[in-house]
Amino acid sequence: MAMLSIGHVIVPSSLVLAPMAGISDLPFRLINRSFGCELAFTEMISASSLVHGSKNTLKMLSATNDDKPLGVQILGADPEGIKVALDILSGYAFDLIDFNAACPVKKVVSRGEGAALLREPLKLQRLLELMVKKSGKPVTVKIRSGWDETQVNAAEVALRAQDAGVSGLFIHGRTRMQGYSGEVDYRIIGEVKNSLGIPVIAGGDALTPYLVSRLFQETGCDGVSVARGALGNPWIFSETAKYLEGGTVSFRPDLFDITQTMKKHLVLNAVFHGEKTGVVLFRKFFTWYTRGIPVKGLKVSAFRAGTLNEMMQLIDEAQALQAAGDLCLVSRKESLSSSHPPERFGP
Ligand SMILES: Cc1cc2nc3c(=O)[nH]c(=O)nc-3n(C[C@H](O)[C@H](O)[C@H](O)COP(=O)(O)O)c2cc1C
Repeated sequence: MAMLSIGHVIVPSSLVLAPMAGISDLPFRLINRSFGCELAFTEMISASSLVHGSKNTLKMLSATNDDKPLGVQILGADPEGIKVALDILSGYAFDLIDFNAACPVKKVVSRGEGAALLREPLKLQRLLELMVKKSGKPVTVKIRSGWDETQVNAAEVALRAQDAGVSGLFIHGRTRMQGYSGEVDYRIIGEVKNSLGIPVIAGGDALTPYLVSRLFQETGCDGVSVARGALGNPWIFSETAKYLEGGTVSFRPDLFDITQTMKKHLVLNAVFHGEKTGVVLFRKFFTWYTRGIPVKGLKVSAFRAGTLNEMMQLIDEAQALQAAGDLCLVSRKESLSSSHPPERFGP
């Protein structure tokens, strides 16, 4: 797979793990890295929460030497707050800084942050200039195709971002109003790619190796970012690498490999968050890892599990279903080859 160069940061793969609020913690990033993810991002970190010293926010900045290169994503719209946030960040080890101009959530856009900045391209340009000047790291920006179908202005926003000195641009090919559903606009991503000299990383429904390769082919982008496609499916990194090199894909590994990975993820969660919180946060991953596998009763029980032992036992029970392997894999294949997200997600 081709490399990505973002400023001085060289990434040996062009497939990137996108930031996801409530998901992209250290355990999640490490699990994906163990299957070939090279560049990952923290979930979005609000500049004002950072300034207020929120304990939860500071925890989001935790990283290890295995978690490199790492991008920190910042959300904000107030230049003074962003300056202070950058001062605080200078005490942390990471490689890139990404600015969020893509978040569609009402609470965020009503503060003029996230995707609201797409409607104020000049303000966004000034904020990015500040980030480039102050951060001392390569800066990237994440945008959407526009605010709504009548304001698809990604090309203008992207040129302004490049003028501001950013080293790379992430684009989710949907408008703010589309949220996380509806068609991804490959055309606008291609237009942005063709008008910029910096790397452009495309996103939107990168759910399977085939859909990742379609994003590459139809947009000519330099990289692709994977978000929902990695939920309970870190294999998307290894399988996509094989697929792009012309190999065949097995869609997902067998149940034994899945349950081994679930156990590793669960233990990482318990170590990082503490047992109680780690188990609670793992509940949704139980469902995602076992998507397409008929373990219905176990999924319900997983949502009640409160201890590491209880969750481990449920994973063992799922593993015992290996005997019904053929049935499992057929339904799993069908659910994973769908070109549409199987569920609605979103913060
Ligand atoms: C649960 C969830 C949380 C997200 N949080 C963030 C975030 O913190 N920052 C961000 O830039 N994008 C966030 N996104 C958007 C994703 O990074 C990605 O751009 C979007 O999901 C499109 O990719 P996909 O269709 O392949 O999932 C989030 C998406 C989901 C589903």
